[in-house]
Amino acid sequence: MGETYRAAIIGTGGIARTHAGYYMANERVEIVAGCDISDERLTAFCDEREIEGRYADHERMLAEVQPDIVSVCTWNGTHMPLSIAAMEAGARAVVSEKPMSDELGGPMDAVALAQERGVYFVVHHQTRFSPGYNAARKLVAEGAIGAPVGIHMHSGGGLLNIGSHLIDAVRFILGEPAWEYVVGWIQRDTDRFERGSFCEEKTHALVGFAGGHELVVSLDMVDGVKHKHFQLVGPDGVINFDREQATLIDADGAHESLSIEQAGYLDERARWKPSAS
Ligand SMILES: NC(=O)c1ccc[n+]([C@@H]2O[C@H](COP(=O)([O-])OP(=O)(O)OC[C@H]3O[C@@H](n4cnc5c(N)ncnc54)[C@H](O)[C@@H]3O)[C@@H](O)[C@H]2O)c1
Repeated sequence: MGETYRAAIIGTGGIARTHAGYYMANERVEIVAGCDISDERLTAFCDEREIEGRYADHERMLAEVQPDIVSVCTWNGTHMPLSIAAMEAGARAVVSEKPMSDELGGPMDAVALAQERGVYFVVHHQTRFSPGYNAARKLVAEGAIGAPVGIHMHSGGGLLNIGSHLIDAVRFILGEPAWEYVVGWIQRDTDRFERGSFCEEKTHALVGFAGGHELVVSLDMVDGVKHKHFQLVGPDGVINFDREQATLIDADGAHESLSIEQAGYLDERARWKPSAS
C-alpha cells in the first residue's frame, strides 16, 4: 500500500455522504474529522461513520487536525473561502462542492493559491465521470463526428445547481478546452434562493471554446419542463447522449449505444503528483 491520507469534511449534510463514501471505499484514506455548524447533523454523521474528530468551527478543526484532504460540502457562498482556508492550513488536496462560487473573485484566488502551493484542487463535478459522458468523450476524441463540434443542452434545474454540472461535462467531453467567449442571458424576477444563493429562473447561453466548438445551453427556459436533451453535432455525424449512454449517428446510420465506466476524483487524486515541492 502506498502513502495514506487523513481526510476531513466541512459540512456534514446531504452531499457529504458521497464524499465520505469515496474515502471509506479507499483503504489509503481515513476520515479523521467532521465539522458542521449544526451539532445534530455533525453528531449523526460522525456517529454513523465512527469519526472521532468533531468540530463546530472549521478554523479550529483545520488547525488541530491538519488534514491532508479536505472536502468542502457546505452551502454555495462558503465553498471558496473554506477551500482557501483549507489550503492555507496546509491541506494537500481540496475537493470543493459545486458551484465553484456565486461570484467571480473567490475562484480566481483559490485556483491561484492551489497552483502556488501545488495543491490538488477540484470542484466536485462528479457527474463528468458518468458512463454516457465518458462514451461521448471517447467518440469525439476518435473523430467520430469530425470537428468543430456544436453542443446543444436543454435541461431544467438552475444554472448553479445543474448548469454547473452540464458546462463542466461539456468541457470534459471536449477534452478540457479553454472557453473563449460567452454570450449569456439570465432572468431573475423573483427572490428565489437555492441553498443560500439568489437563483435565476431561466438561463440561455452560447459558450465558445478553443478549437471552434460551441455550446448552446438552455436551462428552465420553458416553465415546468424538466426533460433533458443533449446532442453533439459535427460535420460527419451526430451523437445523442445522456449520463448513461451515447449513440453515434453517422453516414452508416445509428450505431450501438456506448456506455463506459470510469473512476472518479479519489483515484485521480491518488495518481496525482504535486508539480511544486
Ligand atoms: N455534486 C453534486 O452532485 C451535489 C449534489 C448535492 C449538493 N451539492 C452541493 O453541495 C452543497 C451542499 O448541499 P447539501 O445538499 O449537502 O446541503 P445540506 O444543507 O444537506 O448540507 C450542508 C451542511 O453544511 C453545513 N454548513 C453550512 N455552513 C457551514 C460552515 N460555515 N461550517 C460548517 N458547516 C456548515 C450545514 O449546517 C449543513 O449541515 C451545495 O452547494 C450543493 O450545490 C452537490
